[in-house]
Amino acid sequence: MDKNSFFSNIFSLLKTFFEQILETSTILFSWYLENKRDLPWRTTTDPYFIWLSEILLQQTRVAQGLPYYLKFVEYFPTVNDLATAREEDVLNLWQGLGYYSRARNLHYTAQVVAFQHNGKFPENYTDIRALKGIGDYTAAAIASFAFGLPHAVIDGNVNRVISRLFGIEKPINKPAGQGEIKIALEQIFDRSRPALWNQAIMEFGALQCTPKNPNCVDCPLNTKCFAWSSKKVHELPRKEGKTKVTTIFHSYIVMISGTKTYIQKRDTGIWKNLYQFPLIEKEMTVEEVVTHAIETFDIPGIVNFHSVREIDHVLSHRKIFAKFYTISLNTGYEILKNDIFETELDDLGKVFPTSVLTLKYLNQQKQHDK
Ligand code: ADE
Repeated sequence: MDKNSFFSNIFSLLKTFFEQILETSTILFSWYLENKRDLPWRTTTDPYFIWLSEILLQQTRVAQGLPYYLKFVEYFPTVNDLATAREEDVLNLWQGLGYYSRARNLHYTAQVVAFQHNGKFPENYTDIRALKGIGDYTAAAIASFAFGLPHAVIDGNVNRVISRLFGIEKPINKPAGQGEIKIALEQIFDRSRPALWNQAIMEFGALQCTPKNPNCVDCPLNTKCFAWSSKKVHELPRKEGKTKVTTIFHSYIVMISGTKTYIQKRDTGIWKNLYQFPLIEKEMTVEEVVTHAIETFDIPGIVNFHSVREIDHVLSHRKIFAKFYTISLNTGYEILKNDIFETELDDLGKVFPTSVLTLKYLNQQKQHDK
């Protein structure tokens, strides 16, 4: 090959590459501008608000996350407000959203930004990624939305769109599949408009290229889509060896004394720093629960077993079969144990943040008592 034809080949390859980016992004942007939802974090470039929204939206649907975002922005309008809040108030606002480690990391990272970075968010990908609770996806989101940096986001929506467009057959939850997704993505990622591109492809995945029954006939990208032309839309993306769900038992002891009850603060696990009724993590009979309560809490005199309520609760990798045993105590007797304390029953879930499982129990019990 002579020198001229070599350069001419390189030139035509580059031309095809850039034309492909421009063609795809033109279609994507015009679809986005016509179909996008008006969401409050899309009208700001403040890294604090963007970070807040992205953490709240992890493993959460927009409709569920939106009211939480509005509450957080109202209570903590700046990163300093969040940093100086009590952890209990942060967990209380988070209550019901699940994955509480996100809230604890959020609070911790707010303190790092407020006190170690003088309230200013880091402005490059590496420093943003180094903050606790911020992974590849969130770092790319903040870097692009707040600072216009050319980092492509990869979340569940993007994985689906790319694997269908390019016909990526390798499981997307394995390193080989992710490698192919990244290579494919780079072929259409518009580095000159990263914020718009990232929002557009995520929205396209959420509304158009949906997991079930996507409307491919009217899809503006269908002529470019491998899955559509090869009738594989419902097979892609592939996933392998989903996490195994284990079953566990929880026996809660709800000790009632007039309007009061006894609760403890958890110090481990996914519900760390939330409050709960005393818990034994195994299946127990009524007799075992009563004996355990008398022995553990030194309860003198008569205790009356009252009722048991069963609640099932499904987490991402665990299914909990919970039983809440209610025991009434003689009023006037106070349990003094260093890890449990007396409170008004009504304060659990209000003053003292608790898990969705315990909230379910409290709501059912309230309905029952009406
Ligand atoms: N889910 C996660 N981040 C999002 C965003 N910025 N807009 C819409 N949905 C999202």
